[in-house]
Amino acid sequence: MPLVSLRQLLDEAAKGGYGVGAFNVNNMEQIQAIMEAARKTGSPVIVQASRGSRAYSNDRFLYHLMLAATEVYPEIPTVLHQDHGNSPETCKSAIEMGFTSVMMDGSLMADGKTPSSFQYNVKVTREVVEMAHARGVTVEGEIGCLGGIEDGHGAGLDGLAHLTDPDEAVEFVHKTGVDALAIAVGTSHGAYKFNRPPTGETLKMARLIEIHRKLPNVHLVMHGSSSVPKDLQDIINRYGGKLKPTWGVPVEEIQLGIKNGVRKINVDTDSRLAMTGAIRKVFAEHPEEFDPRSYLKPAREAMQQVIAQRMAEFGQAGHAGDYQPIPLAEMAKRYAHETITV
Ligand code: 13P
Repeated sequence: MPLVSLRQLLDEAAKGGYGVGAFNVNNMEQIQAIMEAARKTGSPVIVQASRGSRAYSNDRFLYHLMLAATEVYPEIPTVLHQDHGNSPETCKSAIEMGFTSVMMDGSLMADGKTPSSFQYNVKVTREVVEMAHARGVTVEGEIGCLGGIEDGHGAGLDGLAHLTDPDEAVEFVHKTGVDALAIAVGTSHGAYKFNRPPTGETLKMARLIEIHRKLPNVHLVMHGSSSVPKDLQDIINRYGGKLKPTWGVPVEEIQLGIKNGVRKINVDTDSRLAMTGAIRKVFAEHPEEFDPRSYLKPAREAMQQVIAQRMAEFGQAGHAGDYQPIPLAEMAKRYAHETITV
């Protein structure tokens, strides 16, 4: 099966009332971990690469690894998504490389740090929508600013500093025609999200529910959704790591979001924690080892386990065989009949 559009995956998820994890990658082992978790659980998948990841892995390597994934796992609907594109140029280069979905994060200026104006956000996002939809590629936009920094991208704010305004979200969607909308409801990128266990009030779920009520047909995206499990933190610290006490987003809050329009859930930190813990364990217990496979294999397995668990929790498990891919050319024809109100 060729790479499929994010729009098709999320439309199907909305029909089925489930969410789909979007997992970040930088290398072969991470792609393999995600694809193997998808096969084991029968899940459609979203594999996403940030600008930092594209620079680290090199676009051509990344793209060919993803082509290999579609050959080895032909039964799995797979999306290749640009995470946090900082400019129309970044999104254009991703589309030209073969990504089937892009995020234009116009909530920040092109430096990826400075919060932007609403007008700027609309302008750059609409530009990307026009360019992407002409090729059948999906677009995710962002309104409000997520907390933290990921791969150098982010204003480094507290997750509660720039929450999404529901009315602005409606206007943004109407003016840009985005397929999916990332909203800020108190989550932030990275391991250090909360310094005490979050209560039902810590995350602004009432705001999320209000946004869904005003935009019932828009696929909502929750960034910064790692749960930062205590057992993964403990493994790292037991084998010489120095993580400070921290709490992530409880899976039950994500499940509440899924009941209220959240279709894409971004997870990176949990994979990083799983791999690092497994590698530290091998280094501590077998200091005589020097074959990279001796630690990369357990690292890949640890990541696969946490991802398979999330796939079951988000509800995407068992849905890989529900549909056939719609070619991007057909998606482009569908978009050509849509009008964007400005
Ligand atoms: P985490 O840091 O919570 O995994 O979030 C990742 C993310 O949102 C990628 O865009």
